[in-house]
Amino acid sequence: MKKDLMFLLCGTLAAGSALADNYVISTPNTSLVITANKKQKAYIQYYGSRISKDDINSLFDSRSVMWQDTYPTFGLHSSGEKALYVTHSDGTMSTDLCVQEVRQYKESNADLTEITLNDTVYPFTVKQYFKAYNGTDVISTWTEIINSGRKPVTLYKYVSGVIPVPRAENWMTHFNGGWGSEEQINEEYIGNNMKVIRNTDGVRNAHTSNPSLMITLNGKPQENTGSVIGATLAWSGNFKLKTSAGPNYLTLFAGIDEENAHYILDGGKSLVTPELILTYSNDGKGGVSRAIHKWARKYGVHNGEKPRDILLNSWEGVYFKVNQKGMAQMMEDIASLGGELFVMDDGWFGNKYPRNNGSTSLGDWEVCREKLPEGIDGLTAAAKKNHIKFGIWIEPEMSDVQSELYEKHPDWVLSQKNRQLITGRGNSQVILDLSNPAVQDFVYGAVDRLMTNNPEIAYIKWDANAGIMNYGSPYLPKNKQSHIYVEYHKGLTKTLQRIREKYPDLVIQACGAGGGRASYGVLPYYDEFWTSDNTDALQRIYIQWGTSMFYPAITMAAHVSANRNHQTGRTVPLKYRFDVAMSGRLGMEIQLRDMSDSDKEYARRAISAYKEVRDVVQLGDLYRLVSPYDNKGMASLMYTTENKDRAVVFVYKMTHFSGQSFARLHLDGVDVSKKYRIKDLTPRDPKRPASFDGKVISGAVLKAAGLDINSALNGEYASLALELTEVK
Ligand code: GLA
Repeated sequence: MKKDLMFLLCGTLAAGSALADNYVISTPNTSLVITANKKQKAYIQYYGSRISKDDINSLFDSRSVMWQDTYPTFGLHSSGEKALYVTHSDGTMSTDLCVQEVRQYKESNADLTEITLNDTVYPFTVKQYFKAYNGTDVISTWTEIINSGRKPVTLYKYVSGVIPVPRAENWMTHFNGGWGSEEQINEEYIGNNMKVIRNTDGVRNAHTSNPSLMITLNGKPQENTGSVIGATLAWSGNFKLKTSAGPNYLTLFAGIDEENAHYILDGGKSLVTPELILTYSNDGKGGVSRAIHKWARKYGVHNGEKPRDILLNSWEGVYFKVNQKGMAQMMEDIASLGGELFVMDDGWFGNKYPRNNGSTSLGDWEVCREKLPEGIDGLTAAAKKNHIKFGIWIEPEMSDVQSELYEKHPDWVLSQKNRQLITGRGNSQVILDLSNPAVQDFVYGAVDRLMTNNPEIAYIKWDANAGIMNYGSPYLPKNKQSHIYVEYHKGLTKTLQRIREKYPDLVIQACGAGGGRASYGVLPYYDEFWTSDNTDALQRIYIQWGTSMFYPAITMAAHVSANRNHQTGRTVPLKYRFDVAMSGRLGMEIQLRDMSDSDKEYARRAISAYKEVRDVVQLGDLYRLVSPYDNKGMASLMYTTENKDRAVVFVYKMTHFSGQSFARLHLDGVDVSKKYRIKDLTPRDPKRPASFDGKVISGAVLKAAGLDINSALNGEYASLALELTEVK
């Protein structure tokens, strides 16, 4: 009896031994080492700079291996954090996973390692994946949890992956905020405790906390130096990123937030957990950002390598006051400045309930005939006349209790049978139940109908202005109500996949009341996100700084808006507003009719300058030079092409005092062996550019001695945008 039980427990390898099947998963600059012997536990031993298979013995001899179970489960060794907690059909609360098989194979864009872990007793399997993306320094990990038995099991915890980090002076960089103040950076020391970052919005997952973090291997986070692991979870719903510190290493557990979301896996069914995207860099936070950005443009963002159009969005210009004449005038105005696309925001739809404010009509995706008698055709015709493209706003996951959709399908809304509905925006907004295939069809149909009737639509702004309320699905069975948090996003993803299959070239922006959807959970289907409803240039420097840690400029919609700013009331010169927006995906969101002629003339020049450097900003490597968080009175960043033959530098004055003096600006992104001609891209007066304009300066000097920018930063809200071009 005793012997049998011994046989049925998964073996553990003695620490310190290299007699094992070791797998080295590598990218050009990083490696992950896993020990996975048949009928034993699997272990992560190392994640860091690239090493080779020949280094394995040295790795063990150095004793720096970590022996972190790749997917620790609850119930036998019960103490400590776990990746998986399952109750099996007979009530047993433990899972004991043992390596069955390891397969390594190539996919078109990556090298895969697949470890099959079987329970020693129950018909229950976890397939654990590690994917090294070609041409990038990203390795991702996720699992497929399979119930091969006949009876259901319940998953109470089911993370995507774990990654151990050697214990030293470890710090964490993470991002949180709220509406109008997204992606604020927090940096804190990780002591002998547990840190949890989670988001419980249910629909959007980047407002209050972003599903991304960095962990340093030793010491305070630095921009250009130090070893840092970057992790971001490609999931659009609730997440939990948890670090648990032990004496030798701390471990990151990342996955779907399991709270109020236990998941019943029926016999024969499986659940695939979201991908955890990982990178490692010895070049500080900057290195992590560049690695993630590169991966994102190649693999993580829809059409991530296709430069974006310069647009005018109607929202801050007219809010809900949409009509044919006003839209046509805005199109004419942006076209006259060199813009390429016009996006009609909220307010264009609803007939029984015309959308005049935020309290009606969501779901009634029919053009409001009173406001737009010529329909969308009238608008696309105006766009054509002005030689620009046309885009439109929708919020297809939502409804309002005052809408025809809700009147017809009250059972399509998340709700609870015996309780009154809680409502969101306008005391009216409710959330569609995307776990229901009929609702998925409706959402797909809303986009498909728009596009079929108006194939000239080139861009959709897809908004989501509410988190999950009324946690109840009329569609899901009684015992699976806890699946809503997961099924909502599986439904959303399915719908987006269908849309993308039919409309691969349609540009779609993810918006979630501002930056709620800056997340790799949705970005494979969206080209960009609305970074924040806050368009105040000064505050945007902080918001965009935090956002840039994990998201490349091409995804970051940044619009020049009115003076005084509608969110903060701040008054900022047009040049500054442009220089800030030009460091992302430039657009405008303003009533151009109200602009003075000289401002219009300036805007025309700035737009044309952006076109010159658009590829460098949107596709280039980011170097953050001076952080606004360092209180140096200014902030600066630059983008360079891959071979560093061109670059763009942005400088923003943040505070203004007499006697202020700024340190030399060292351009970290340049090639020291090259020479560059400097051009002032956006001088307010073209006859009086900054003194650097036209000068040829060596990369060595730009990096080592730096630029003295004091005379160029005269006055309040001074800013600079410089283009650098290699001179041979
Ligand atoms: C949200 C978006 C805004 C705008 C409004 C329209 O708040 O973030 O940009 O589209 O909705 O109602």
